[in-house]
Amino acid sequence: MQTLQTIPTLRQILATHRREGRRIALVPTMGNLHEGHLALVTSARQRADVVVASIFVNPLQFGPHEDLEAYPRTLAEDQQKLEAAGCDLLFAPDTTTTVYPRGLEAQTRVCVPEVSEGLCGGARPGHFDGVATIVTMLFNLVQPDLACFGEKDYQQLAVIRRLVTDLHVPVEIVGVPIVRAEDGLALSSRNGYLDAERRALAPRLHHTLADLKVALEAGGPVTPTLEAGIARLRAAGFEPDYLELRATDLGPVTATTRDVVLLAAARLGPTRLIDNLTLTLPR
Ligand code: PAF
Repeated sequence: MQTLQTIPTLRQILATHRREGRRIALVPTMGNLHEGHLALVTSARQRADVVVASIFVNPLQFGPHEDLEAYPRTLAEDQQKLEAAGCDLLFAPDTTTTVYPRGLEAQTRVCVPEVSEGLCGGARPGHFDGVATIVTMLFNLVQPDLACFGEKDYQQLAVIRRLVTDLHVPVEIVGVPIVRAEDGLALSSRNGYLDAERRALAPRLHHTLADLKVALEAGGPVTPTLEAGIARLRAAGFEPDYLELRATDLGPVTATTRDVVLLAAARLGPTRLIDNLTLTLPR
């Protein structure tokens, strides 16, 4: 696997692959890779001739009091994992200036209205503009045929799907199912922030969603069921940001909506966890 740190070298190598008619897949990441990321690489490997991953801790998607500085940077280990998973090229810009040469304030941004609002977009203002901007830039740099994103970041995936539709970006977006630890916790780089006590509590987020799914699929009333879920999370020591039921496109649930997604974000001490489960409401 080759690691490329600059935009001209990335463009040059990809131009050759494109000229020779190879199908290119992109796996954008912020590094500190776990099995969830490697599932994205595996999915990309199955669908393309050339797999390109990127590692860039994107400052544009972090709020002023978020964990940009603390975010784990583990490039050497990540390179080994990517290589073993079958990645061909890694784009790992060495400085923020490589990506944002005129600084963050002066950077042109991409905003995806509606689908970016509420949920994580409500709790993290500007976050999805930062994601949409870097992902658009990566699409322009790599010009992939397809790109793989994890379903754990459900709203992010919806934002990216909307962005490629609205801007006619010729990239197929592949959603890859959540990878969970044995106890049910969705894998996330931020799980590493949990101390042993909180790590033991963390799977209760998933267990709560799983029980609410059973209740809702059995015809339980939506609002009281969600309220009971919030109370249960609080009793377990979480501070919930939201627990919501939405249509799978993140639109509101109406009397005729059947395919829905239950989404939650909750803090355990300083660590913010997110998770989701799709389900079908009874008629
Ligand atoms: O999901 C992530 O790791 C990031 O939000 C992404 C898509 C790589 C953009 O920085």
